[in-house]
Amino acid sequence: MLCVGHVCVDMINICSSYPEEDQKVGTTTKVNRCHDQRWQRGGNAANNCTVLGLLGAKPSFLGTIAGSHEKTFLLDDFAKYNVDTKHVVVHEDCDCPASCVILSMETGSRTIIHSNKNLPELTVEDFRKVDLSSYTWVHFEGRNVSNVVGMIEVVRKHNGSHKDVKPVIISVELEKSKPELSSLIPKADVIFVSKDYAQFQGYTDMAQTIDKIHSETRPGSLVICPWGEKGASARLKEGQIVSCHAFPPDQVVDTLGAGDTFIAASIFALAQGHKPEDSILFGCRVAGAKVGVRGWEPLSHLFKDCDFLPAVEDSNSRRDVVMNTT
Ligand code: ADP
Ligand code: FRU
Repeated sequence: MLCVGHVCVDMINICSSYPEEDQKVGTTTKVNRCHDQRWQRGGNAANNCTVLGLLGAKPSFLGTIAGSHEKTFLLDDFAKYNVDTKHVVVHEDCDCPASCVILSMETGSRTIIHSNKNLPELTVEDFRKVDLSSYTWVHFEGRNVSNVVGMIEVVRKHNGSHKDVKPVIISVELEKSKPELSSLIPKADVIFVSKDYAQFQGYTDMAQTIDKIHSETRPGSLVICPWGEKGASARLKEGQIVSCHAFPPDQVVDTLGAGDTFIAASIFALAQGHKPEDSILFGCRVAGAKVGVRGWEPLSHLFKDCDFLPAVEDSNSRRDVVMNTT
């Protein structure tokens, strides 16, 4: 699986509550406290790869990376999660994009302030250098839209000239509040639409979002919409909408990358041939596990012996856990 998109450094602060303006938050302060502070590799596609790596898939990351001192940290961390980075495009003399993240233990919110000063986006020419025969699935983070449209055309052309093998599946994520993302909707086979993008478009719930987005897709596409504590929904090819509840942990401690986790786990299940309803269920279970732990590392223990995903042939027996089928 190839995930195309952004990698950055996340500078994470876990605080008792979201700070007030001009407040000083320290390790021992009384009103609010900083419980932990760490660097983590971030970026949607980079996070998708982390989760796919943890699940045992063989993910590759494709994106640009700054040649600055953070590069070693980022590449070493990709390697730690078995993510292949042979295709990354290094831009020397650029600053590494970074996010300052505040996680509130009180509400579970994750506030992200992101900055990308000068790192260029991936080009269609960069993408053309990848041998697509090595991949069964290419997932595109919703950014750099005009170039991504060109990259999707490259994959479609590849599929057209390799009719003897299964086509490479194309998925996209619409996450950010950017109107231009809508031009990706008719291009992909699987479209993940986040709550943030949906609300930006004025949609109020998962069913409405799926209906609206579906009207713009190519025939046979699958639309999937995760919605925080409400879980996720998908529209099946036959038109039926299936939903699955969330799996809240005992305590929500880190929601950074919950959506990225959901997408990665859903792709993992879909790519194995699981039904959409079972795949979103798996996505919600894995994302629910993620929000209960700090960072990614603890997930490697949680996923050992994990029976979240039934064998493809047993999928029907799990219908009972898919709710609100309309
Ligand atoms: P994003 O990170 O893009 O804001 P969401 O908040 O929509 O993503 O969450 C994605 C998925 O993560 C949800 O569908 C749900 O399965 C899971 N999730 C998110 N927040 C929680 C929570 N508080 N409890 C349980 N699961 C959650
Ligand atoms: C989470 C995330 C962070 C990163 C930010 C970039 O979804 O990928 O890791 O800082 O979003 O938009």
